[in-house]
Amino acid sequence: MATTPEFPRLHVLSHPLVQHKLSVLRDHATPKKIFKELVDELAMLMAYEATRDLSLEPCEVQTPLERMTAARLAGKKLVLVPILRAGLGMVDGILRLVPSARVGHIGLYRDHDTLRPVDYYFKVPADSGSRECFVLDPMLATGGSASAAITRLKHAGVTRLRFLCLVAAPEGVRRLSADHPDVPIYAAALDRELNASGYILPGLGDAGDRLFGTR
Ligand code: PRP
Ligand code: URA
Repeated sequence: MATTPEFPRLHVLSHPLVQHKLSVLRDHATPKKIFKELVDELAMLMAYEATRDLSLEPCEVQTPLERMTAARLAGKKLVLVPILRAGLGMVDGILRLVPSARVGHIGLYRDHDTLRPVDYYFKVPADSGSRECFVLDPMLATGGSASAAITRLKHAGVTRLRFLCLVAAPEGVRRLSADHPDVPIYAAALDRELNASGYILPGLGDAGDRLFGTR
């Protein structure tokens, strides 16, 4: 996992499996079914890295041979918060690693003209403030959606946050790091730039449309 001096809060996953799967995901010819499966697999691989520093606590286990002091995750179950729609594609892969995680939802879409996020739904577990919270969205473009989602979660009392995406633009990392310097960002790639319409270059296109077949 690599960080850069310019973006100290960004962790880019250099693992060969992540990079290989991301390349297939980017390909415009990759069909919807495979695209969805790859988002799922990438989210699981990323969660493996993004959970590396979770705290453990001792627990007593009786093996078939003897009692031992083993280790388990400390504290309350995690909360996964996908940003609708495209973030939904990352939930199942992570739930395969942490099946007891709670799932909240934030509904945001980016206005095509202003590129500003418009919110339409918010529902997270009532006690999210005492849990570690993973915000999920495959794309970090201008950073407006991710920043608004995290602001909303902070207003709801959440303090321990991480943001997981697949493809990040420098503009989005800059914005999110400035608005929320306390939130680490995990990405499979840091791409070159945004185009005039706010799409990431080279990117992978519209993640929501490719996941749900809406274009
Ligand atoms: C996409 C993407 C992010 C957002 C990123 O969602 O899934 O939520 O754009 O752009 P930003 O960093 O400039 O805010 P979109 O608004 O297209 O909604 P959708 O997931 O419903 O398609
Ligand atoms: N949202 C997407 O789905 N793709 C981009 O490139 C930018 C925002």
